[in-house]
Amino acid sequence: MEIYNAQSKSAHATALRSVGDVWNFGSGVQAITPVSRTGPEEYKEHGTTTYKTGPGITPGHGNDKGVLYKVFEPGSQILRCFQCHSTGRVNFTPEQGIQPSELGVRCESCHGPGADHAKAPSKFNIFQPRNLNGDGVNAFCGNCHRQPPKEGEDTNWSDPWNVRHQPVYLSQSKCFLASAGKLTCMTCHDPHGAKPTRNACADCHAKPRHRTLKSGTCAGCHMPAVAPSKELKFTNHWIGVHSR
Ligand code: HEC
Ligand code: HEC
Ligand code: HEC
Ligand code: HEC
Ligand code: HEC
Ligand code: HEC
Repeated sequence: MEIYNAQSKSAHATALRSVGDVWNFGSGVQAITPVSRTGPEEYKEHGTTTYKTGPGITPGHGNDKGVLYKVFEPGSQILRCFQCHSTGRVNFTPEQGIQPSELGVRCESCHGPGADHAKAPSKFNIFQPRNLNGDGVNAFCGNCHRQPPKEGEDTNWSDPWNVRHQPVYLSQSKCFLASAGKLTCMTCHDPHGAKPTRNACADCHAKPRHRTLKSGTCAGCHMPAVAPSKELKFTNHWIGVHSR
């Protein structure tokens, strides 16, 4: 019950909501972008996004007119929005409208189908991400937060928009590489959103060797905030010594 109640209020659970005939993407922790149907096979991502700081142009849009998407184009981008922001299969209505099974990132997004488990609870009939190591968790959360780069794949490390892909950056940090699979997203985060982000540095760095330690938090200096636009802010998950 505790996990259920906490999760239903989390940013994961509220990552997609429906209000009348508009789909609101984003929990509002950072931003909410509306998407609505504009034709039999067409959806519009609205040009105005509500940021925590107020309304502004949607990321990636040049003006506030909005961007149209076809549902059945190859690699359909609009279907992919729904896939990452909802749980279970994305279905279609008889009129070819998009119909997600469950709104937001809920239990079965991460624990797999749970009907058998609900009927006869056992640890053998539910997926337990607890058993994954560091690479396993990066890949698992990376299904939505983006996968670490494969060998030989190029990443533009100084593009501030890429910083929002946390597994990509964490996978490069010495803390991750040198801790033999022990450092995972869950070292610091509760995926159910029940507990605040933990300052886990002392687990492994009891006494860091600082020449001068000015005021500030460990993460503030070693995982600095990066703002790709004036409205959004992400955390550099490449833990390390950053200038500034
Ligand atoms: C099915 C897609 C999906 C998966 C799988 C997923 N996430 Fe998320 N996550 C999201 C979306 C979408 C948001 C944005 C919610 C919002 O708009 O604020 C988010 C937000 C977050 C946040 C920030 C908000 C908060 O609750 O503090 C954290 C931290 C997070 N995810 C961690 C994880 C971790 C850790 C995993 C793996 C155990 C994971 N996520 C797996 C889609 C996913
Ligand atoms: C590959 C999975 C994926 C796809 C596809 C995807 N999102 Fe997201 N979305 C996320 C995750 C993870 C987050 C949280 C962190 C972040 O911004 O990367 C998020 C966050 C957001 C936010 C909150 C602002 C923010 O950046 O935190 C909005 C709004 C949003 N997405 C809208 C959309 C829309 C609209 C589409 C389709 C055009 C879309 N998303 C496609 C995974 C996805
Ligand atoms: C974003 C992914 C995500 C979502 C959504 C999610 N969980 Fe989890 N859950 C995890 C991860 C990852 C762990 C392992 C935690 C750890 O390693 O500390 C976990 C652990 C658990 C555990 C403890 C099992 C154990 O290993 O001790 C329970 C019970 C659980 N989740 C139930 C739920 C329920 C019920 C929901 C929906 C209300 C839910 N989870 C939603 C990712 C998720
Ligand atoms: C699971 C263990 C673990 C955790 C948790 C962890 N680290 Fe590390 N970290 C390491 C290891 C192992 C190294 C590499 C050994 C070394 O060079 O001392 C390292 C290296 C570093 C370095 C040097 C990086 C470089 O590129 O040379 C810094 C700075 C650092 N950690 C800061 C932090 C901070 C700040 C936190 C908390 C936000 C943190 N670490 C959390 C294990 C960890
Ligand atoms: C060493 C600790 C640590 C680890 C490991 C870690 N995070 Fe974070 N994360 C933070 C801190 C600190 C913040 C910023 C403060 C906050 O959101 O509470 C943050 C913020 C976030 C956010 C909010 C958006 C942003 O970028 O600021 C998301 C989403 C997120 N982390 C996902 C992940 C995922 C997915 C993983 C695993 C690949 C992960 N984190 C691993 C410490 C960590
Ligand atoms: C004001 C910024 C700042 C703060 C706050 C800070 N650091 Fe550092 N840290 C640095 C700089 C800069 C270096 C590079 C070495 C130097 O100049 O002393 C460093 C080096 C390190 C190293 C690598 C040296 C070593 O011991 O091997 C670790 C680990 C580390 N810090 C961990 C932490 C932890 C844990 C905290 C929180 C208790 C923290 N730092 C707080 C700026 C900071």
